[in-house]
Amino acid sequence: MGRKISVIGAGKVGSTTAHLIALKGLADVVIVNRTEGIAKGVALDIAESMPVECMSVRVTGTGDYGAISGSDIIVVTAGAQRREGMSRDDLLKVNADIVSEIANEIKKNAPDSIVLVVSNPLDAMVYLAKKVTGFDKRRVMGMAGALDSSRFRSFISDELKVGVKEVNAMVLGSHGDSMVPLLSATSVGGKPVSELITAQRLSEIVTRTRDAGAEIIKLEGSSAYYAPASAVVSMVDSILNDKNEVIPCSVFAEGEYGLNGLFIGLPARLGKGGVKEIVELELTENEKKELSGSAEKISASVAALK
Ligand code: 2OP
Repeated sequence: MGRKISVIGAGKVGSTTAHLIALKGLADVVIVNRTEGIAKGVALDIAESMPVECMSVRVTGTGDYGAISGSDIIVVTAGAQRREGMSRDDLLKVNADIVSEIANEIKKNAPDSIVLVVSNPLDAMVYLAKKVTGFDKRRVMGMAGALDSSRFRSFISDELKVGVKEVNAMVLGSHGDSMVPLLSATSVGGKPVSELITAQRLSEIVTRTRDAGAEIIKLEGSSAYYAPASAVVSMVDSILNDKNEVIPCSVFAEGEYGLNGLFIGLPARLGKGGVKEIVELELTENEKKELSGSAEKISASVAALK
């Protein structure tokens, strides 16, 4: 049986994710959307590009959740999107109903799959997905840190006019205003970033990273999708190909970093089966404080679900 990924939601993030998975030949793709025609149209369009791309993956669209059966990974992108001036938490109630319904369908149709949530508010939605599916914590995760870290790296690369591969950085914590860029672990060409960028300017770059999603909404009138989709596919690739890469993502903490019983952005080794381990880095006192503050914000968001 070939590898299979189901993408729930045929909006911009879902369709871009499906396209990237197919372009990279990672797996066959099933796109599920409440409005079946949209899923079918997006899938057909991607499938018709495969001969040009010399890729032989199959891409199909449907409104029927039965089609997700046998999926290795299920990417959940469905849900309301933010508009200008909204926070991700403003989506809590509406997206909780959508994610719960999807999680029930996953539990019923793909009980052995790995669930990768993108819908916002991210950390609370991942928590809900795990609660409703009842899946082991290693098979439920959320995409956030990979996106936020990529944005942070992109801004530093622009600032210093260096290649993005020279910039190593990680953003932990919530996918929201309290996210925690790890400045102590950020380096450029092997040098600590603090030797290359002033504290004031670094603080401005951190703020821009926290606001990056809103910046795109202000410019484009809708949420980002290229960078989120790339971030999702980096996680999918590490899992499907058992690359065991350490990627910051929303994972269930049970004592790591002194945190317990919540999904929060931490460095996770992703490989066959999902989350292999949560990697504990040395944080500065300030980073520890920021991370626990971020955890409090997530816990408040989860409490509001009940
Ligand atoms: C973002 O930060 C959609 O939450 C996603 O752009």
